[in-house]
Amino acid sequence: MTRTLRASASACSNIALIKYWGKRDFEWNIPLNDSVSMTLSEAVTTTTVEWDPELKQDEIYLGGERVLDQRGLRVSRYLDRIREQYYRMHARVASVNSFPAGTGIASSASGFAALGLAAIAALGEGLPDEVEMTRWARRGSGSACRSIQAGFVEWVGGDDDASSVSRQLASPDHWDLRDFVVVLSRAPKAISSSEGHRIAARHPFMAARQEHLAARMLAVKGALANRDMATLGALVEHEAMEVQAIMMSGEPSALYLQGETIRLIHALRSWREDEGLPVWFTLDAGPNLHVLCEGSHALAVRRKLEAAAPRAELLENRPGPAATVHDDHLL
Ligand code: DP6
Repeated sequence: MTRTLRASASACSNIALIKYWGKRDFEWNIPLNDSVSMTLSEAVTTTTVEWDPELKQDEIYLGGERVLDQRGLRVSRYLDRIREQYYRMHARVASVNSFPAGTGIASSASGFAALGLAAIAALGEGLPDEVEMTRWARRGSGSACRSIQAGFVEWVGGDDDASSVSRQLASPDHWDLRDFVVVLSRAPKAISSSEGHRIAARHPFMAARQEHLAARMLAVKGALANRDMATLGALVEHEAMEVQAIMMSGEPSALYLQGETIRLIHALRSWREDEGLPVWFTLDAGPNLHVLCEGSHALAVRRKLEAAAPRAELLENRPGPAATVHDDHLL
């Protein structure tokens, strides 16, 4: 009897509250610092992997289309790592995102979490434990390790492949926090996050950042544990602006923010400071704003965003579930 070496998995993307920006090891994606994130319920990647002894090379399908460019190469290089440890055969991989491409949502996070899980599950030898799965996801894309667990997650940066793992801080039902992704631009970014990590690693501000990050991490984890929105919001906004400052003052400069991003930040701060609406923001390596509030204010925040940016798409996320293996195969 031949075993079917096929499995499927889904994983949510995540938004970093404390950012991963700068690596100490580029081969294994070992970060310069620990980070914290919320798993995003509405930004899901589903992937099927089928190991096939008949294949002469990997076949990669993203969003229904075969890809032969850099993206396919990155998937194949990742499969090489799995092949080094397990089998030598090639694979057919199909992957789809629930969210539209170019929304600035980290598809590499959900993508490599789902790919790692599906590829290892498809070997049919049982899954490694959750912590080892976070290592596998991180080897594909650093932020992907935080997409293995549900809710609120900490990536303990560590200093090598063994020690760099993520762990859950709190489950999704701990706190009804919302993250509205405001899609202001779909243009591809001029400087990829992988390149951005390299620029950051040689940035003179990074030493100062590392000095105060441990205290900020503790404060963020405390605010999460206490569901203290005002404290968390202030810390997360400050963190986002600090990382943007490093991005835009790097060599070369990565200026991800658009005029619309800045306009909306001013509007949001005025809703908070002048009108008393408890709302904060964070940013990733892109122009789209992530707007944070508690569930009790989500409707008011949605109305404000719809009025202020009527053409922007809004994606409202709750703390999302863990990555899972399932039988809804794409192949
Ligand atoms: C700004 O995880 O995409 O989203 O490890 O090179 O794949 P690679 O980088 P990636 O970097 C994410 C950077 C960020 C911040 C974060 O998610 O913590």
